[in-house]
Amino acid sequence: MNSISVIADRDYQVVIDIDWLRGIEPYLVNRGQIAVIVSENMRDRIANLPSTDAQIHIFTVPDSEAGKSFATYQKVLDWLGAAGFTRNDLIVAVGGGAVTDLSGFVASSWLRGIEWVAVPTTLAAMVDAAVGGKTGINSEYGKNLIGSFYSPISVLVDLSWLSTLSDRDFAAGLAEVIKCGFIVDTQIVELLKDRNLLEVRSDRDLTLELITRSIAVKAKVVSGDFKESFDREILNYGHTLGHAIELHSKYALRHGECVSIGLVFAANLANESGILADQATDLHKKILSNLGLPTSYEGRHWPELRANMAIDKKSRSGTLRFVAISELGRTLRIEAPSESDLLAAYERLCS
Ligand SMILES: NC(=O)c1ccc[n+]([C@@H]2O[C@H](COP(=O)([O-])OP(=O)(O)OC[C@H]3O[C@@H](n4cnc5c(N)ncnc54)[C@H](O)[C@@H]3O)[C@@H](O)[C@H]2O)c1
Repeated sequence: MNSISVIADRDYQVVIDIDWLRGIEPYLVNRGQIAVIVSENMRDRIANLPSTDAQIHIFTVPDSEAGKSFATYQKVLDWLGAAGFTRNDLIVAVGGGAVTDLSGFVASSWLRGIEWVAVPTTLAAMVDAAVGGKTGINSEYGKNLIGSFYSPISVLVDLSWLSTLSDRDFAAGLAEVIKCGFIVDTQIVELLKDRNLLEVRSDRDLTLELITRSIAVKAKVVSGDFKESFDREILNYGHTLGHAIELHSKYALRHGECVSIGLVFAANLANESGILADQATDLHKKILSNLGLPTSYEGRHWPELRANMAIDKKSRSGTLRFVAISELGRTLRIEAPSESDLLAAYERLCS
């Protein structure tokens, strides 16, 4: 077990490789009520909660992006209201990034903020969604457009959840891991560049190292720039096209799968702009496809994706901005790239 500190709106620990049922115990003391928010399909996995004097409510929400809707958000607030949740009470989010995003947003807005603990159960949530204090839900106009910056009081990363994760979701989480390698910790690239999904999954020590390194990257970046004024934007490497694809696919693709395509696109764009060498550009596609992640998207969708990118949170007054790298571990920003570079970068995805 080890811990990584995050210094943000509140300082907290991400505790890695802990039995979450033991880790949660201290947070249940001296509470009147506790709301455990979990998706319907994961409900049976939280049967043996530790005993506590507090009244425990289990609130089940629709799985995945369906749970990040305004309707679900409102429903959970109504449950809290009906149960009479006070500022001394606690929310525990047990689930993938969709559940932790929703729960954190609920926690931030109920009574202008009550405490919450994140128990991420997917790789993507462990290395990314549950760490860093961004919470939110989707709007029909785009992904994560409604939200807040609001940190949990603790994040408990229990690797045992991963044993039941589908290969698809494990790979989706690896997209965020490799992103951390491309932007900051190049050792992650070394660890992954000659491995396939099965080799990573079956190696617990490697998985633990990748999780720890990725959380360290996120914790460091977020601690330096919690509200994303500038430095934190590097975590959005691959996300500008990624979010546009996510919206376009109506969330049929996982977040990490869209990020994977977006990473290859961002590398292509940097290459088209003369910033990134061919070898580093090609490495993106090689690593991601070895891990079983998608690296292409259909060509005919470009006009819709281009329009979706214009409303991405990172664009400013219609000007597109992309996080790019000039070499592994060295980030920069491409502002207002030419339409021809954008199209060329996209067309390379379709070949
Ligand atoms: N707040 C942030 O900084 C941040 C960062 C990255 C991603 N996100 C958000 O996180 C979401 C993606 O997270 P995700 O990839 O975890 O998706 P998800 O939450 O939709 O979970 C994916 C699937 O895995 C299932 N699942 C969860 N835990 C499991 C387990 N232990 N065993 C088997 N199945 C399990 C879920 O029920 C779901 O069907 C997106 O909404 C994305 O926008 C937020």
